[in-house]
Amino acid sequence: MGWPIDRPRRLRDNPTLRDMVSETRLGADDLIYPIFVVPGRHVKEPISSLPGQFHLSPDEAGLLALEFNRLGGRAMMLFGLPDRKDETGSPGADPNGPVAMAVKVIKDLAPDLAVITDVCLCEYTSHGHCGLIDGQRVLNDETLPHLARQALAHAMAGADMVAPSDMMDGRVGAIRDLLDKNGFKHLPIMAYSVKYASAFYGPFRQAADSAPAFGDRRGYQMDPANRREALFEIELDLAEGADAVMVKPAGPYLDVIREVRNHTPRPLAAYQVSGEFAMLKCAAAAGALDFKRSALESLIGIKRAGADLILTYLAPEVLPWL
Ligand code: PBG
Repeated sequence: MGWPIDRPRRLRDNPTLRDMVSETRLGADDLIYPIFVVPGRHVKEPISSLPGQFHLSPDEAGLLALEFNRLGGRAMMLFGLPDRKDETGSPGADPNGPVAMAVKVIKDLAPDLAVITDVCLCEYTSHGHCGLIDGQRVLNDETLPHLARQALAHAMAGADMVAPSDMMDGRVGAIRDLLDKNGFKHLPIMAYSVKYASAFYGPFRQAADSAPAFGDRRGYQMDPANRREALFEIELDLAEGADAVMVKPAGPYLDVIREVRNHTPRPLAAYQVSGEFAMLKCAAAAGALDFKRSALESLIGIKRAGADLILTYLAPEVLPWL
């Protein structure tokens, strides 16, 4: 084997040959579009930290979902901003809260669109942490029933899947248990199993008003230096009944995506987070990158690393290019 017998350029000679030997393809089915819902009606406010994304009331979320679905979009992830917060994040389980309302409107307008809900307390707690607190400490076991109640409220509103992102130990099992006891044995859970304590969540926290009032999330989210621990988290969540797992962020953690892909046959999602999106947008706005090409390359890289599904704010923009 070797040149001049072997010439890799032969199969790069024209677009058809290149397509025929292309190893990775990005499709509409791969993308999950995250959106931010707020209370009210006729609200569609641009989010300054995420160019092209909006705070949407449930009616407007429905219209956007319809438009996304018409472009070929298959799935959305919903985050909620409540009009009040408390110590335990109880507004997150409000059956009339923005997420529950938006789920109903979207399923009404676009029944074939998969509606996934993010389950976490940070948008709903007065202190911005993902669990209950005692002084400076984020409590684990005491948080679980609150997460489970929020997941149940989303299920009752008609969500197709719930996705816990809080990183408390044992939350998948607690959610599975409460769902099963209430007639939702069929409802899948996508666990944010491998979620790093990342600086790339910055624009999201502005958008979701969910920055912690004190300290940081390193007591519950993973250390960016750790890869073996990712496999441990995946095993625990699968043992508790997770149907799909996730690595987050995506771009800076492609090695972790591949590691997890090689470790489990279960569906694997990767979250291209707000900071990754903002980097592309800002670099393109500054004239440093070609937006279309760099956006598509960032996604194909995540797919090639081994993700089946990609959560990305780019979803509606890239759909027409696929
Ligand atoms: C927490 C949550 C976060 C994101 C999704 N769910 C932020 C955090 O952990 O502080 C970040 C998503 C993004 O940056 O796009 N519930």
